[in-house]
Amino acid sequence: MPQAAWWQTGIIYQIYPRSFMDRNGDGVGDLQGIIAQLDHLVWLGVNAIWLSPIFPSPMADFGYDVSDYTAIHPLFGTLADFDALLEAAHARGLKLILDLVPNHTSDQHPWFQQARASRDNPKRDWYIWRDAQPDGSPPNNWAAYFGGSMWTWDAATKQYYLHSFLPEQPDLNWRNPEVKAAIFDAVRFWLDRGVDGFRVDVIDRMLKDEQFRDNPVNPDFVPGRDNLAAGGAQQRVYSENQPGIHALIAELRAVFDAYDDRVLIGEIAYSTDPTVITTHYGGSAAPEQHLPINFALLLLPWEVEALRAFIAAYEAALPAGGWPNYVLSNHDQPRIASKLGDAEARIAAMLLLTLRGTPFVYYGDEIGMHNVPIPQDQVQDPQGINMPGTSRDPERTPMQWHDGPNAGFSTATPWLPIADDYLTVNVEAERADPHSILNLYRRLIAYRRDTPALTLGAYQALDSGELADTVLVYERQHENQRVVVALNFAADPKTISLPAGQGRIGVSTHMERSGETVALDRLVLRPHEGLIVEVV
Ligand code: NOJ
Repeated sequence: MPQAAWWQTGIIYQIYPRSFMDRNGDGVGDLQGIIAQLDHLVWLGVNAIWLSPIFPSPMADFGYDVSDYTAIHPLFGTLADFDALLEAAHARGLKLILDLVPNHTSDQHPWFQQARASRDNPKRDWYIWRDAQPDGSPPNNWAAYFGGSMWTWDAATKQYYLHSFLPEQPDLNWRNPEVKAAIFDAVRFWLDRGVDGFRVDVIDRMLKDEQFRDNPVNPDFVPGRDNLAAGGAQQRVYSENQPGIHALIAELRAVFDAYDDRVLIGEIAYSTDPTVITTHYGGSAAPEQHLPINFALLLLPWEVEALRAFIAAYEAALPAGGWPNYVLSNHDQPRIASKLGDAEARIAAMLLLTLRGTPFVYYGDEIGMHNVPIPQDQVQDPQGINMPGTSRDPERTPMQWHDGPNAGFSTATPWLPIADDYLTVNVEAERADPHSILNLYRRLIAYRRDTPALTLGAYQALDSGELADTVLVYERQHENQRVVVALNFAADPKTISLPAGQGRIGVSTHMERSGETVALDRLVLRPHEGLIVEVV
C-alpha cells in the first residue's frame, strides 16, 4: 500500500470563523482568535483545520457570498494575519484548508456589478441571464434553496439572472471559460501561499441544464428543516449534477495536482445513496475529488440497522483507491448532541472516530455543544428568515471556552448568543473532568492515531446476533492488529457474544475500564456504552 496521505490518516476540524474566538473585541471571531486557540486543537489531536469562508463579503449569507476571492474580510483580519495563521498552524503540524465558493459570488462582487451594468458589458456572460417568459414570469420553475424563485428580475437591463441561493448570490456561468480561468487563478493564489486544500461549496451544482428545463416537483416533500438537506420541494434534475460536471471537477483537480499533497474536498448533494457519493471520485485517468463529503451519518435515522446497512453499501460502492469519510454535523445542520442526546453523542463520537475513513469534527461538538434557541425576530441566518423554523444560527453560536463572561469568546456582546449551559459545557471545565465528552474525544483521537487498524485497517461488520438492532459491532484490522468496536445504542445493558477470544479495552465512552481484560464471547456493555477492544 502506498504511504497514506495526511488527509487519509488525519482528522479534519471545521471552524466557523465568526464563532471560534474574538481577539479584537467586536463580538465576531477572527484570525488572531484562531491563532490564539491553535493549542487547543493540538491538545485535542486533530490534524487539519477547515475554515468556513473568510473572504470579503457583504455577509448576506455569512461569507458564502464572496465579493473578492483573493483577500481577507477586515472583520477577520488582514492578509498578514492570514499568513501568520498559516505559519502558526504549520509550525504546530496542522494543515489549513479554506472554503471555495465557485457556484456563486456576492451581488457586490465587481464582476456582477459590471455584468449588470449593461447587456453588452464584457462581464455580462460571466453570470446566467435569461429573458422573461411572454407573461413576464421567470424563465423556469427552479426554486431557490433559500426560498422563492432562482430568478430575480433586473429592471435596468430587463432580464432575469439566476441565483441558486439568495438574490444577493448570483450564480456564475461556468460554461464561460473566462469564469473558469478566474476562479482557478484564485485557487492558485491560495495554494501558492501554502494553503493545504479547499472544501468546495456545492461543487456538483456548478453547471445548469443548457435548455433550462423545469424541475419536476418532489412528491415526497414535507416542509420542514429535516427535509431541506434531502433536496427540498423539487427534484433538482436540471439544476444539479449536469452532464459535464465530472469533467469540470477533474479540471479543478488538475489545478490541485500541480502542487504537492493538497486536498480537494467537495460538498455534494446530501444523500444516503452511496453511489451518489462514489461517482465523485473520478477514475484514475481523470481523478476528481479526494473526499466527496459523505453526509449519511447526519441524514440516516439513528438506528443500528440503518447505519450498518449504509456502511456496508458505502464500503462496497467505493472505487479502487477511493478513500471514505464521515461527518456528524456542520454549520448547516443541528448540533449532534441536541439531535441525539448527550449519551448518544458520545456513541456517535466513537463511531465517527473508529470507522474507516477521514472524520470531520465540527467545532464545539468535542465539548458537546447544543443548539442555542434563538427567537424568530432575532434570527440572522437568511435561510431561517425566509423559511421560519429552518435557521442555522442555533448551531453557529460562539465556542464556549470557559465559565467567564461570554464564555471567554469575546469581551464584547457576541454576534449570536452564548448557550445557557456554558458554565459547565466549556473547554476549561471539561479539560478538568476526566469523564467529559472533551476528554473522550481527545482519548479517541489519540487512540485512533496510535492504532494502525483504525487509521488504515479494513472494515468488517460483525454479527451481534439477536441484538442486531441495538448493538453495532464491527472489526478493524491491519496486519496482525485486530480491534473490535461495539456500540450499545440502548439505554439498558447488553451482553454480546462474539467468537471466543480475549480482548483488552482501549476506550470506553464512559471513560472508565481502560486496560480491562474482557472475554469476547461475553462482552458486557453498559447503557449507552461504546467500547473499543483490542483483540489480544
Ligand atoms: C452550502 C454552505 O455550506 C451553506 O452554508 C451556504 O449557505 C450554501 N452552500 C450557499 O453557499
